[in-house]
Amino acid sequence: MKVSLAPSILSADPTALGQAVRLVEEMGADLVHVDIMDGHYVPNLTFGPSLVTALKKKTSLPIDVHLMVSQPAQMVPLFLRAGADWISFHLEASTHVHGDLYRVKDAGKKAGLALNPGTPIHLLSDILPDLDFVLLMCVNPGWGSQSFLPFCRDKIRRMSRWLRGQRLDIPIAVDGGVNAENIEDLVRDGVDVLVIGSAIFNSPDPREAFLKMKQAAGRGKKS
Ligand code: DX5
Ligand code: ZN
Repeated sequence: MKVSLAPSILSADPTALGQAVRLVEEMGADLVHVDIMDGHYVPNLTFGPSLVTALKKKTSLPIDVHLMVSQPAQMVPLFLRAGADWISFHLEASTHVHGDLYRVKDAGKKAGLALNPGTPIHLLSDILPDLDFVLLMCVNPGWGSQSFLPFCRDKIRRMSRWLRGQRLDIPIAVDGGVNAENIEDLVRDGVDVLVIGSAIFNSPDPREAFLKMKQAAGRGKKS
């Protein structure tokens, strides 16, 4: 599977999100990761569906909506209507996981489940074949610029081994603390989609940072 880069616009200048998306599209990003926080599931607030609608007009990249919300069942339809292409919500937040997933899948969009760092992967066992992707959080959700939690590497490796053993071709996305220093290892561990926020947008030269990370991802894939 090809390794994809999904810049997270959470760390971009909120007054210039259109420019941020254009920049990463030019640089060869594969997805645009949009973090939705409701001030309840996580103690922070970010964007709403209107941003997704607006971004769809600025980019042809797929929009990957990560719902960090207490009520995914209420939010999923809003983001489908807004034009989200990939939607993930937290297993820990959903009451009817299968129902919420199929809301997304039946709309022809990619449905993923996000797991917090402390949530064991085995909780995915019955729903695994229905997933279009898995989003493993490697920081506790709520903010950008946090440090990658080292124990997540073993979790990623176990997830990757499990999927291979089941012959399931489901991409593993990793979110939180991804940077030029750990990308190569993460790709070697089995990560397919790298969500990257501050390491791109807080860098003095986002273009150079993006390029460095793309190259590091390529090295991890080859080794
Ligand atoms: C964190 C968000 C992430 C965030 C990652 O709650 O889900 O998508 O943007 O930011 P970095 O890459 O800075 O850890
Ligand atoms: Zn995210």
